[in-house]
Amino acid sequence: ALTVDTARQGPKIDDTMYGVFFEDINRAADGGLYAELVQNRSFEYSTADHASYHPLTAWTRTGSGEVATVSDDGRLNERNRTYLRLRPDGTEAGTGVVNSGYTAGIPVTDGRRYDFSVWARTDAADGTPLTVALRAADGTPLAEPLRITARGDRWAQYTGTLTARATGTTGRLALTAGGTGTVRLDMVSLFPRDTYKGRPGGLRKDLAEKIAALRPGFLRFPGGCLVNTGSHEGYDEASGWQRKRSYQWKDTIGPVEERATNANFWGYNQSYGLGYYEYFQYAEDIGAMPLPVVPALVTGCGQNRVTDDPALLRRHIQDTLDLIEFANGPTTSVWGKKRAELGHPKPFGLTHLAVGNEENVFDAFFERFTAFRTAIEARYPDITVVSNSGPDAGGPTFDRAWQLNRDAKVALVDEHYYRSPQWFLENNERYDSYDRSGPQVFLGEYASQDNRFRNALSEAAFMTGLERNADIVKLASYAPLLADTASTQWRPDMIWFDSTRSWGSTSYEAQKLFMTNTGDRVVPSTATATPAVTGPITGAIGLSTWATSAAYDDVTVTGADGTPLFADDFSAGDSRWTRAENRGNWTVQGGRYVQSDATAENTLVTAGDPAWHDYDLRTKATKLSG
Ligand code: AHR
Repeated sequence: ALTVDTARQGPKIDDTMYGVFFEDINRAADGGLYAELVQNRSFEYSTADHASYHPLTAWTRTGSGEVATVSDDGRLNERNRTYLRLRPDGTEAGTGVVNSGYTAGIPVTDGRRYDFSVWARTDAADGTPLTVALRAADGTPLAEPLRITARGDRWAQYTGTLTARATGTTGRLALTAGGTGTVRLDMVSLFPRDTYKGRPGGLRKDLAEKIAALRPGFLRFPGGCLVNTGSHEGYDEASGWQRKRSYQWKDTIGPVEERATNANFWGYNQSYGLGYYEYFQYAEDIGAMPLPVVPALVTGCGQNRVTDDPALLRRHIQDTLDLIEFANGPTTSVWGKKRAELGHPKPFGLTHLAVGNEENVFDAFFERFTAFRTAIEARYPDITVVSNSGPDAGGPTFDRAWQLNRDAKVALVDEHYYRSPQWFLENNERYDSYDRSGPQVFLGEYASQDNRFRNALSEAAFMTGLERNADIVKLASYAPLLADTASTQWRPDMIWFDSTRSWGSTSYEAQKLFMTNTGDRVVPSTATATPAVTGPITGAIGLSTWATSAAYDDVTVTGADGTPLFADDFSAGDSRWTRAENRGNWTVQGGRYVQSDATAENTLVTAGDPAWHDYDLRTKATKLSG
């Protein structure tokens, strides 16, 4: 029975309560939302980003002349350090390179237009003829080739359009130089004309629209672990551009050929083509409040490194003040002027900004957070500076974090947790007892650990608890938002995609229900029922657990009674979260789960409700030495 008490008023629910958290994980930006089709367009991939990378990653050579990647003072600019040098030998086949795009290839659709561009310079007196062709992996032409002549030995950009004459997902972009001489090339780019809102160099339409369809109240960006992990320093004289650098917004604005590229925390190179200006613009497009996260000079995400450098801290604080000026300042201010020059004289209306993400060394973090907060509030008293509570839903770091945040009267604290569906069901009342005189809550990341119906159901049940506490839980976002099926570092995820298709998970549908039907006010209600257990249940059921193999080697999963179920031998040293899993046919027989596969004979005895069994799994992980 459901009893609704219309006589009493519950808390008001803000329009901004449900939002999205975008992070470049699972190729969410490069190869995902950022619609660029050429991978490693600037030849900047490096073994410092990933052991398998080199400047010609995603490229192959063609023809008989000389093909080389060069990093010398002939470069396009100081940020874009490596370029491609071709020395065609006058043969008819010419000399060139072919790009294979991301994962399966470059997807093209018959009749659609694709905008090509390249920076080039040549010492050939009559110029260098360049042929740009799109063809499938098997060589089938996908478009009429484009012919361009590069002239002069100064860098200049050349553009053109290719119109697809066939549909394919394994496209290759071939760039061939003819004649003789030396031609230098950089920033080889191909974008679909049909981007979100038709912006050149813009966002992949289906993904941008799926996010927009949620009608998010806010957009938290750009991370996550992405933001706060890596070196906090800038340019490294010895090794060139700092390859593992915390996310710094000034690296990400202005002409794309002048933006930095470097290693991404999630194991691939980030181009920053989707940068701070684009994030603000997208937030505005979808009616979401922008909520950037800046690094705090303490690396969270299990890395626990503290940078103790007062001058560097001052620079990062200044960068953050400049960021606020970039978002909100008048066009007469230094950074407000830059925003206007990029095409947006109107302020972006930034009201919230988070410093840090999931720091374990919390006291050190909080010291730095306080320095940021003091400087920001002195200059911009209307900006809400968001803190966090470390990487988990409870425990000593969490308690210490809350104590510090409470004592310092911080306005909003970012909580993160990824737990089982059962945990979400059991914690519906988590916020009922939160201290109303303390900081409010930004639930910046949460998900129940899988993408099945029961996960969405447990999240939806939990969200009723968030909503009931809308006076203290001010913002909430599921995470992660996007995942490429061919490059997944973290699961579950809200929206999945490959090169041409995208689809929402069950959790996407649950989020959409809440986000597009947000109430104005909570009406107090009570429900009573006796849960019915129906059975037996038979079918394919997955057992899974999560571990990060940077810390763990072997993971063994046993039933609640200690029965071994399965083991997974993780490859040591991989810092990504991985799921050990066993999928099989399971039957519930009198409260016992029996795997009916011929391959394994495992039995899990459940206690209580037999509807879902993995609540009772016990995980034993063997820690790696050191
Ligand atoms: O959402 C994926 C990751 O989970 C985020 O980068 C991090 O903040 C959290 O640990």
